[in-house]
Amino acid sequence: MGRNKVTVIGAGNVGATTAQRLAEAGLADVVLVDIVDGLPQGKGLDLAEAAPVVRHDGAVRGTNDYAETAGSDIVVVTSGLARQPGMSRDDLLAKNAGIVRSVVEQAAAHSPDAILIIVTNPLDAMCHVAMQASGFPRERVIGMAGVLDSARFRTFIAEELGVSVVDTSAFVLGGHGDTMVPLPRYSTVAGIPITDLLPADRIQALVERTANGGAEIVALLKSGSAYYAPAASTFEMVDAILRDRKRVLPCAAYLQGEYGVDGLFVGVPVVLGERGMERVLEITLRDDERAAFERSAGAVRELVAKLDELAAVS
Ligand code: NAI
Ligand code: 2OP
Repeated sequence: MGRNKVTVIGAGNVGATTAQRLAEAGLADVVLVDIVDGLPQGKGLDLAEAAPVVRHDGAVRGTNDYAETAGSDIVVVTSGLARQPGMSRDDLLAKNAGIVRSVVEQAAAHSPDAILIIVTNPLDAMCHVAMQASGFPRERVIGMAGVLDSARFRTFIAEELGVSVVDTSAFVLGGHGDTMVPLPRYSTVAGIPITDLLPADRIQALVERTANGGAEIVALLKSGSAYYAPAASTFEMVDAILRDRKRVLPCAAYLQGEYGVDGLFVGVPVVLGERGMERVLEITLRDDERAAFERSAGAVRELVAKLDELAAVS
């Protein structure tokens, strides 16, 4: 059996950092693709030259040519514009839809059996574009957002309680947007729900900070958006799939009746293994949680409708 092959499209902040993590973990040979001439080649060469020092023997190379991506097991899509201060994720819709459609068509043609992990924003809507452009089944089109959003929630919970992040676990449902739904009663420290450890007003503050987590980093950086935690989160999904770990992670998945939603990508807990999104785990939501989930799904539905309008006029 040969090595696994992962293509990362977009050699910007998230893409290059993801490529670095994958290569340094020895998880796969990595092909980095970008539209800008020289950028993926330069970053790919730089990453390859780190290998003797880091002591991994995976191949890393950069290219503008999709032929070099042929036979990839996983294609990670990060190409697109990042949010600038004052810009909502939704502003990115039209521009990034065109980019995602074009790169997915090319990547899918060269790797028809690949699993797609979509990162480009607005995330849930871009998953729709990717599914349409590839024609892949829902098991092989998965969006990265919930792992990142839960990681942010865990960071804030650990900081608030003065405990290790390692002992925290958190649960965030819904779209990757301002209406995401962090679920406190399923968020725990060493198995203890945070609702037993923190007063309601502190939990509410952490929930709001989580929903605002992307914007908080954008406001600090002033140009560009988060990439270390997004790349680490993408890595965790690739690792779960390539090692067939059956990890239960919150991801954007195409729902077909689960959670009462049909024909829409929304963030829910799924089992990730060698077949991609192998199963959606359904949990019973309380009325207030269900209402928040439906509000979030509604926001995704609106974006997808806007996408359809854009496609109709283009
Ligand atoms: P970046 O600007 O650093 O990199 C984007 C790269 O895409 C650039 O190198 C650009 O040349 C390339 N690109 C543009 N059009 C292309 C095309 N047609 N073909 C190939 N490459 C193309 O941006 P960054 O920070 O890496 O973010 C990338 C995307 O990921 C953004 O849409 C951002 O909003 C999103 N994002 C999503 C997260 C999530 O949780 N789902 C978290 C963080 C970022
Ligand atoms: C984030 O949450 C920009 O969606 C990106 O950081």
